[in-house]
Amino acid sequence: MLMCLAYFPNQVRKRTPYVEHAFKAFYDLRVTTNVKRPNGCLPPVAIDHVVDEPDLIRDIARNNGPYFMPARYLIGGETAATARKRTPKIVKDAPAYLIGPTWRGDWAFDGEVLVEEVAPLLHHQGFIGVAKQMFDAEIVIPEQVYVNLSTPMGAQPFSHVDIPEFMGVNRHNAPGWFLQAMGSSRLFEDVRISIVTAVAWFYEGERGFFRYWPSGRDNESIRHEQMWNTAVIGDNDFMHHLVERVGGKDKRSPDGMSINSELDHDGSHWKILEKGKELASYDDIQVRLSLSWKAKVYADGVKFKDYSSGNRDITVMEAITRFNQELGCDFKSLQEVEMRLALTEKWSGYIS
Ligand SMILES: [Fe+2]
Repeated sequence: MLMCLAYFPNQVRKRTPYVEHAFKAFYDLRVTTNVKRPNGCLPPVAIDHVVDEPDLIRDIARNNGPYFMPARYLIGGETAATARKRTPKIVKDAPAYLIGPTWRGDWAFDGEVLVEEVAPLLHHQGFIGVAKQMFDAEIVIPEQVYVNLSTPMGAQPFSHVDIPEFMGVNRHNAPGWFLQAMGSSRLFEDVRISIVTAVAWFYEGERGFFRYWPSGRDNESIRHEQMWNTAVIGDNDFMHHLVERVGGKDKRSPDGMSINSELDHDGSHWKILEKGKELASYDDIQVRLSLSWKAKVYADGVKFKDYSSGNRDITVMEAITRFNQELGCDFKSLQEVEMRLALTEKWSGYIS
């Protein structure tokens, strides 16, 4: 095992160029769309009016806490689907860089509406229309709506890509860190599912801008500055993005936070809570709200049927085997801490 781990000298924060995957020959046969990404990702589309009643989104957020740090899903042993049924597992050994004052709430998952008022958002016609154009696709099936809430903080020190899904290996049977490694390694392009993401903002406080790299991480970035009722629809499983500073220059998150700290609104203020103890309190305007929408994309009915049949699915064990072949390792199950450390370190999806 030590021999194996020696292959991973601290690569988390090194920049790795986009590499055309080695499985291109399979591309037309298996994936849900046939898009090419010569610049690393598909070009994003910005829109400047998302909903007619943007204040309602903030109302819904205040009424549906508490919120948990998304990294608890990313590195906890459970799948996102399991974690969403209850309070996610307490995580003990979180790396410090994953602890930040951003919390998540799920409003729709697997196409199922979890927060009633959000149903129209899940089927947002503007998002669906742009997605069809972007992927040159006929079928877009919305699955997720979630909010990220951030209290004042410095800029994220790294950009990231979102957690992808694959045929047979997805949020139901694999944890976030494993899916992230599958995506970033580019070893599974033959079974990748195309996912489109819209991120919309409902924030009138200071700063809180969104930066993204529409032509690859090594090229120019764009800073999105209009944060009220606007959105960027993008190929976020490939397009790097990050959140800039939220609040004034002197603002920082409180001491004493852990990856298990929660955020909740008590009717007058937002509170950061650690084991029930209040660490900080904020006015509503200080809390940045972004809303993410995700949908699966299929070029046409044939691709959709092909995917739905399950004939193309790989198993988690087949995925582990493919990693083993690449790394010269002998990992056997998702429970192996060594595998999590090895894959997370090499293919975390974060770039500083
Ligand atoms: Fe993201």
